[in-house]
Amino acid sequence: MSELSTSITLSGGAVIPRYGYGTFRIDDAEVAAAVTAALDTGYRLIDTAVGYQNEVGVGRAIGAAGLGREEIFLTSKVWDHGYDEVRRNLDESLERLGTDYLDLYLLHWPRPDVDKYVESWRALVDARSEGLIRSAGVSNFTIEHLARVEAETGAAPEVNQVELHPYFSQPELRAYHEEHGVVTESWGPLGLRAEGLFEEPAVQAVAKAQGRTPAQVVLRWNLQRGNVVIPKSVTPARIAENWEVLDFALTDDELASIDALDTGVRQGGDPLTVH
Ligand SMILES: NC(=O)c1ccc[n+]([C@@H]2O[C@H](COP(=O)([O-])OP(=O)(O)OC[C@H]3O[C@@H](n4cnc5c(N)ncnc54)[C@H](OP(=O)(O)O)[C@@H]3O)[C@@H](O)[C@H]2O)c1
Repeated sequence: MSELSTSITLSGGAVIPRYGYGTFRIDDAEVAAAVTAALDTGYRLIDTAVGYQNEVGVGRAIGAAGLGREEIFLTSKVWDHGYDEVRRNLDESLERLGTDYLDLYLLHWPRPDVDKYVESWRALVDARSEGLIRSAGVSNFTIEHLARVEAETGAAPEVNQVELHPYFSQPELRAYHEEHGVVTESWGPLGLRAEGLFEEPAVQAVAKAQGRTPAQVVLRWNLQRGNVVIPKSVTPARIAENWEVLDFALTDDELASIDALDTGVRQGGDPLTVH
């Protein structure tokens, strides 16, 4: 696959960029500079969350960017569950971000012990009908969680944002997404919570053959596997490095050599136990 679409139309009709910028673990004081660097570089999808406690700075950077609001695809996520709690959180996020709509709002974790994610999902569906959010999705949902939401509400999430990198490439979940019209968005796409991915012989070999860095190879693999990808960096040189993944392509053999690195082992939280 040499040509890569730069956006995907979600099942609700909104258009999401394939490539974006994550802001986890960037505090409110430094996030405005980081998001400004990302927007200046060309990123147009910005991913934040109530839990990141940086929505004010994200909103400030977007407001100062000199871009039309419609040029930016803004995602936030809600941690709390319950219909009213989600609606209240959404109002508060809009206020902090200084905008009157989100492009995508996600239930951050299913938190099955609380057992309110179906009710929370209804709140997102209603907010979408009212135009407060352009698209509605979830994050860290397993097949079981997705199936239950769709069975009980008749509406499938438009996006599921999950841990996804070569060491944990989630083939079964991606196949389910494809069957149900759910777009896969990859968090932790650089796979750096464990050691060693960039030093893997397969990654090194592709990097050498393509004349690219291991980070670029890993990000390009993720894009070519059909996912929306949102790397984070506060380092200007890396923000630029990570952006340079749209003008080359891995061959089928190169993609397969990286597929083979899947361990099936998560580096981040388990959706069944994160509370
Ligand atoms: N839904 C969820 O539960 C969830 C969970 C985690 C993350 N996310 C979202 O997904 C985004 C991405 O995930 P993530 O931040 O966990 O992980 P990531 O983007 O895979 O990795 C970020 C780490 O990689 C480093 N890095 C970035 N570019 C690099 C490069 N070219 N070479 C070497 N190191 C590089 C960064 O360092 P520096 O910043 O110091 O440069 C940072 O330590 C988050 O920011 C967030 O928006 C969502």
